[in-house]
Amino acid sequence: MRKMHETSSLDSTDEVSAFRGQTPSHEPPPKGVTTALQPVDDSAIPHDTIEQVISRRGSTRQFSRESITLPQLSTLLERSTRGIPIDFLDSAGSHLNDLYLIVNNVEGLAAGAYVYHWNKKILELLKAGDFRQKAGYLGLEQQLPADAAADIFFLADLKKILERYGNRGYRATQLEAGILGGKFYLAAYAQGLGATGLTFYDDDVVSFFSPHARGKSAIFLVALGRSARSK
Ligand SMILES: Cc1cc2nc3c(=O)[nH]c(=O)nc-3n(C[C@H](O)[C@H](O)[C@H](O)COP(=O)(O)O)c2cc1C
Repeated sequence: MRKMHETSSLDSTDEVSAFRGQTPSHEPPPKGVTTALQPVDDSAIPHDTIEQVISRRGSTRQFSRESITLPQLSTLLERSTRGIPIDFLDSAGSHLNDLYLIVNNVEGLAAGAYVYHWNKKILELLKAGDFRQKAGYLGLEQQLPADAAADIFFLADLKKILERYGNRGYRATQLEAGILGGKFYLAAYAQGLGATGLTFYDDDVVSFFSPHARGKSAIFLVALGRSARSK
């Protein structure tokens, strides 16, 4: 691990400069049915302080299978994808992780598999259907992603990323996923919902979201919903 860390470190100002920006962009236009995000109005957004939200935060251990609403999911996606001020990203709209969703129970959004278009703020339906059982399987045969209202899978086109950034691109992708996952947690708990990070069967996740996700790698998974405990 130490050797990998060393060989993906930057040793000169030239290397540091070359690492900045020029994020590979990869957002093919939607081909399927799309749904625009419907985030909650600023006036209706919960007003707890960040400290209150952080102290409430904790990985949900059981979801209740109850629905969340499209405005809640939209608010979470819209607020969490406003960009990270970090050297390897160009601007607010650029990102290394792509977001794919399994929607199990979201009022106002048909159950199915979706891809999120960050810049257009829309969800594109890839396939409709009840994928609760499949979500449980993909999330390493755990109950949490099957019971969640929605599961957000982070997938990255590592080939393009490594071509652009070299080995350090993998670190960048993981770092972005960690920060984004943290934002999802806080956006969920701010709205009185629950969330948990999860492990998954990498290749099966990519197959499930293919052909759209072909060639990408699974990086992280966050399950969202109503906690059984808060019920
Ligand atoms: C990368 C990552 C993977 C995780 N994988 C799982 C998992 O497969 N199953 C699970 O029940 N929890 C999983 N978790 C949740 C952790 O168990 C939980 O975050 C950890 O116990 C710390 O608890 P806290 O988040 O409530 O502070 C994962 C969390 C992260 C960040």
